[in-house]
Amino acid sequence: MCGIFGVITNQKDISIGKIAFEGIKRLEYRGYDSCGIVTQFNSKLYVKKESGRIDEIQKKINLTDFPNGSKLALAHTRWATHGAPTKNNSHPHLDCSGEIAIVHNGIIDNFIELRKELTDKGHIFKSDTDTEIIPHLIEDFIKDGLNLKDAVIRALKRCRGAYAIAICYAKSPDLIFVARKGSPLVIGIDQDRATYCASDIPAFLPLTRYCYIMDDDELAKLEAGKVSFFNINDDTRIEKELQEIEWSIDAAEKGGYEHFMLKEIYEEPMALRRTMKIHKDQIINFANELWSASNIYITAAGTSFYASLAGKYIITKFLGKYIHAVECSEFKNELAECLRENSVVIALSQSGETIDTIDAIRWAKRKKGVKVLSITNVVGSTITRYSDHVIVTRAGPEIGVAATKTYCTQVLTLALIALEIAKLRKIESFEEIKKYYEALNSTPSIIEEFLETKVDSVKKIIRCLDKEHNFFFLARGISIATAKEGGLKLKEIACRFIEGYSAAHAKHGPISLVRDGFPIIFIAPPDETYERLIGNVMEFKARGGKIISLVVESDEKITELSDITIRIPQPGDRYHNLFSPITFIPALQLLAYYTALSHGLDPDKPLNLSKTVTVH
Ligand code: F6R
Repeated sequence: MCGIFGVITNQKDISIGKIAFEGIKRLEYRGYDSCGIVTQFNSKLYVKKESGRIDEIQKKINLTDFPNGSKLALAHTRWATHGAPTKNNSHPHLDCSGEIAIVHNGIIDNFIELRKELTDKGHIFKSDTDTEIIPHLIEDFIKDGLNLKDAVIRALKRCRGAYAIAICYAKSPDLIFVARKGSPLVIGIDQDRATYCASDIPAFLPLTRYCYIMDDDELAKLEAGKVSFFNINDDTRIEKELQEIEWSIDAAEKGGYEHFMLKEIYEEPMALRRTMKIHKDQIINFANELWSASNIYITAAGTSFYASLAGKYIITKFLGKYIHAVECSEFKNELAECLRENSVVIALSQSGETIDTIDAIRWAKRKKGVKVLSITNVVGSTITRYSDHVIVTRAGPEIGVAATKTYCTQVLTLALIALEIAKLRKIESFEEIKKYYEALNSTPSIIEEFLETKVDSVKKIIRCLDKEHNFFFLARGISIATAKEGGLKLKEIACRFIEGYSAAHAKHGPISLVRDGFPIIFIAPPDETYERLIGNVMEFKARGGKIISLVVESDEKITELSDITIRIPQPGDRYHNLFSPITFIPALQLLAYYTALSHGLDPDKPLNLSKTVTVH
């Protein structure tokens, strides 16, 4: 939530405004309520900020136009928490003198008392934000005679809560200070030329492939092409390891696609193939831990939670132990009395920064003997610091706010763990296990074939459903996860109301909503639930429901009962129902995508959402 970006360079003839603008645009998925940039030149700060989306703001006030010769800039894109999405509440925020500017991602919990204290001292506040107290605190400490670095440290020590911040000072043209506690922050280095800071790596990926990942309670001094790190608590120097980013540069660009969401759906086969190559030892570690655990819980939010529903189903089949899936925000409430020694908690998070998931595992780790295993898409993300074992999926950066390719790679990772457990327990023959692997290996080509040959069938459905505002997504067994995730996509991207539900359970209430023409999307792979699902389809059809079903190529029975079908390729014995959560989901992601387009909505910027939820 909120994105921050900073640059300091010694390069001549560059437009600092342009670098800052492009950097923050690559972080727009973190929030798009307002945006702002500050640059420093000739001992003065120059600020431009406005509410609205970056492109609209750019047309209004040209965010790239700053004095020539400026060598540093900070930028911010906001997801509003404290204070409405107005110009005054946009970052950067300044002190009374206008000489100290800051951009911030996070929440300062004790801002009300600090604001009162500072107001009593005569400070004038211009916004309703929690952030604005920080430049005023720094201003106070500088007035007391501290240098900028000490003033920043003293100010941060007074703040409770979470922050990733970047600070610049009109009188210091050669440095930026940044600090982190609880919100993500990475530093990019173009040796001896430029240094960047950002909430996420894609912001500077086209500029450098070398970075440092900051930890909590660290402060960094950025100078052009170099950086030094300090511990905020005792001001000692910290040595950190420079990391080379493996992602390709075009990962942060749309590469000819109209939207990141579409690009990322088309990247699913590649993301799956890369994830298949996760190091074997990591999968084996997870399998061993699950096998020896007394109780197993899986926790996540949103799409990651639905991936966990599919994954737990696959693992349970081979493990023979029940896995409890608990939403991360309720984890502590539900398990307060029953998390035991030798319990294992699996945490799933694309970003590795979802605050409720982090809180859940931090709490779990406090219990003696509990192990945390996490699966994330972001190397070095916060979740990894609280985990005994980590698997990083290989989806590459996901910029579209709606999770797509990362869902597939999460389910695949859990399936790989499940097959390792099957081997460990020797409950399946070598031949059987080989077949499962072949089917899993075929998921990318099934999706490829779907994307090459079936997209028109999805677009045709959009035309029939154009006027509809309410939908059911129904399924049985493992496909309930697909129904919920497919429904979530339509809800968030296309602003339709959907209920993703068990087809069997729907007659205990939801069915009362069905009228003539009410659209119901059935997820219907030919698994052990298929015959029963036919009965459910008939119940809804009998009440006038418009039946849209997702079936495999060879399907006949449900096809006959349906008004429209989307057919998923089913190449001979290389298709397996157990992995249908992976092969069926692209159809529903595209359904959401094209529905959004048909309603003039931007699929990359769903209303009120941010990709990384770092507040409770
Ligand atoms: C939906 C979506 C969200 C995230 C959720 C968890 O498309 O993207 O529901 O899945 O906020 O995020 P992570 O996986 O980063 O913990």
